[in-house]
Amino acid sequence: MLYLKNVSYHPPATLTPILKEVNLELAPQELGLIIGPSGSGKTTLLEILAGLAEQTSGEIFWRNQSLEAIHLQQLGGLVFQFPERHFCGGTILEELRLGHPELSSDRIKEALTEVGLEQLNWNASPQALSGGQQRRLSLAVQLIRQPNLLLLDEPTAGLDWSMRRQLAKLLNKLKHHWTLLIVSHDPTELLPSADRCWNIHQGVLTPIEPAILLKK
Ligand SMILES: Nc1ncnc2c1ncn2[C@@H]1O[C@H](COP(=O)(O)OP(=O)(O)OP(=O)(O)O)[C@@H](O)[C@H]1O
Ligand SMILES: [Mg+2]
Repeated sequence: MLYLKNVSYHPPATLTPILKEVNLELAPQELGLIIGPSGSGKTTLLEILAGLAEQTSGEIFWRNQSLEAIHLQQLGGLVFQFPERHFCGGTILEELRLGHPELSSDRIKEALTEVGLEQLNWNASPQALSGGQQRRLSLAVQLIRQPNLLLLDEPTAGLDWSMRRQLAKLLNKLKHHWTLLIVSHDPTELLPSADRCWNIHQGVLTPIEPAILLKK
């Protein structure tokens, strides 16, 4: 269980806090969806959960243990917004092995199969893939590390309608094995898979029933 208790983020440079006493609970194998407009604090919250920034107050627990940023870096796998812009391997194999040269072929095959890319030639360039395939590859790059918590920043942004649906289907499948927390300003395709939802507005997180949003 992921549990955030009164997590706030107020860097000295800003007049008001970017996150205000955020409380959140997410159980294993659940898909949590945080919905909010531009500038509401979504990416900031994911950066804190991934251990890339540190909250200025409040605590983050995993299985009842309070975690510091360094532990969160181990626990979480963050897929950035437009992850394909950060590819730096010359081949798919290089991309997956970056920072993990020891990874076995079996692990690589497993990760690619999980995201539906098992048929790809490992020596192909990530740049040669379609937009939807690139998103899948960036998911595999995180899954191969076997994180406890998969964090996704606007996973469907910039994809066309059919690719958005395909990706939503894949994320729905992934929650059978992983715990996912997704932030998005446009959650239409993701809503049916969500077990828990929150709205975020100016750093304030408010729970909302997914069923209520689905009816809208
Ligand atoms: N390091 C920082 N220092 C000062 N202000 C920051 C910093 N990082 C983010 N902000 C501000 O915090 C607010 C939230 O930013 P954040 O990127 O988390 O929003 P977001 O919900 O992800 O927006 P978008 O949908 O546009 O990606 C914004 O007003 C932003 O300008
Ligand atoms: Mg953002």
